[in-house]
Amino acid sequence: MPGLLGLGQLLALVILVLQPTGTLEAQCPIPSIANGQLRSAENFTYGSTATLECDPGFTALGTSTTARCTFNGRWYPRVPSCVPGQCSHPPAVEHADVQHRHEFLVGTTLTYSCRVGFSLIPGVSPATTCLQNFTWSSVPRLCQKVQCPTPVIPHGREASPRREGYTFGQQVEFRCDHGYVLMGSERVQCLSDGMWRPPVPYCDRVCDAPPKITNGQHSGMGVKQFPYGSEVKYSCSEGLSLIGDESIHCTSEDGENLAWSRPAPECRVVRCPRPVVERGRMTPQRFTFPYGLLLHFSCDEGFRLRGAAQSRCRADGTWDPPVPTCQPVVCPQPRIPYGRLKSPLGGRKWYQTNETVTFECLHGYQFSDNGMMPLGDTGTTTCLPDGSWTPLPKCIEEGDADVCQEVHYTKATFECGVPVEEVKTLMEIQKLFLEIKKLELELKN
Ligand SMILES: *[C@@H]1O[C@H](CO)[C@@H](O)[C@H](O)[C@H]1NC(C)=O
Ligand SMILES: *[C@@H]1O[C@H](CO)[C@@H](O)[C@H](O)[C@H]1NC(C)=O
Ligand SMILES: *[C@@H]1O[C@H](CO)[C@@H](O)[C@H](O)[C@H]1NC(C)=O
Repeated sequence: MPGLLGLGQLLALVILVLQPTGTLEAQCPIPSIANGQLRSAENFTYGSTATLECDPGFTALGTSTTARCTFNGRWYPRVPSCVPGQCSHPPAVEHADVQHRHEFLVGTTLTYSCRVGFSLIPGVSPATTCLQNFTWSSVPRLCQKVQCPTPVIPHGREASPRREGYTFGQQVEFRCDHGYVLMGSERVQCLSDGMWRPPVPYCDRVCDAPPKITNGQHSGMGVKQFPYGSEVKYSCSEGLSLIGDESIHCTSEDGENLAWSRPAPECRVVRCPRPVVERGRMTPQRFTFPYGLLLHFSCDEGFRLRGAAQSRCRADGTWDPPVPTCQPVVCPQPRIPYGRLKSPLGGRKWYQTNETVTFECLHGYQFSDNGMMPLGDTGTTTCLPDGSWTPLPKCIEEGDADVCQEVHYTKATFECGVPVEEVKTLMEIQKLFLEIKKLELELKN
């Protein structure tokens, strides 16, 4: 019988013999396993198999989770341990991205974010969690295309086909109703922030086409629309004069309706007669005198303008103000204190240029020397081309003349720059001379 025993059985027998309890039942030790436990249908006795069960959220490290209790009281293969479990990559969600990681342990929470041009559907949570059964909590549809508000354009419409909604990336084109002009961009696009760019335009009123005129044209030919503030200029066919304002502009009187600022001008033949100014001139020198021409007038010497110095050719072919005349310059009657007119007799109020009048002083008065005119019975003055007289003579009381002469002489001496000391000496000599003369007279008598 012993010869039939295998080597292993022999060893088991030895252990059994050595067992202090003396029991024949061989048992494997119950290993303490973190986050899990070993389960067996039998009582961990020799030959029994056990299975490792990890706690929820944990997973066995290793491929085999079963072990057998061998006769030498060991588990074979070794019982694996339980480690925290992981989820695989989180599921893909349309138009959304999630953070990238190396591992996703149970309990990890991730948040999805919508891609450019998409926004989170209100009320849904973009988070997912790695559950204990190693699956991700379910994620609903998260992202929808960004919406732009429906563009509103009074007095205009969408030129592009109408759509239900306006989402990210869509373009819209606009047109204005007749009588309106588009201000802003004709085409706009819905951007990722839900705004139209460039901003939605608006339709503004326009002026009607500017009035046409006969024999002339305006700068707005070929222009389709005339928005507020636009200006047109008129011009006439060759040789015709433009009567009125050259340009008009589109404006508003009531703040709402638009109209042209003025009636359109007219194109007509307008000529003014050639102005005739005797004893005068005009500038610029012209042969023709069309509407609008401005002339300047001046007179020959000795004559002065009566009327305006400039005049313009009016639309009715007249000069405005009327062309002036050149009148001879006259001097008013000269008056001399203590003197009277000698010739011409019968004093006049006005005197012609170059006319000379003669004066005499009243009784007891005589002409003063003035330092320039010789003393005499008559004084003269001449009417100058500017309407003034040559310096008028003066009448002074008789007897004052000598004194006056002396004053003039002394004044002249000073003005000559003769030093005061020298004048004093001269005076002294004169005084001595006079005293000698006086003595001589007294001696004679
Ligand atoms: C396991 O062992 C216990 C006592 O140690 C015993 O009561 C039980 O019957 C045994 N079970 C089996 C299946 O052998
Ligand atoms: C995992 O657990 C969750 C919630 O406990 C459950 O809804 C889901 O069906 C489970 N998944 C699997 C694959 O068992
Ligand atoms: C006045 O006299 C000057 C010089 O004799 C002459 O040149 C001028 O033409 C005269 N003027 C008039 C208005 O007669």
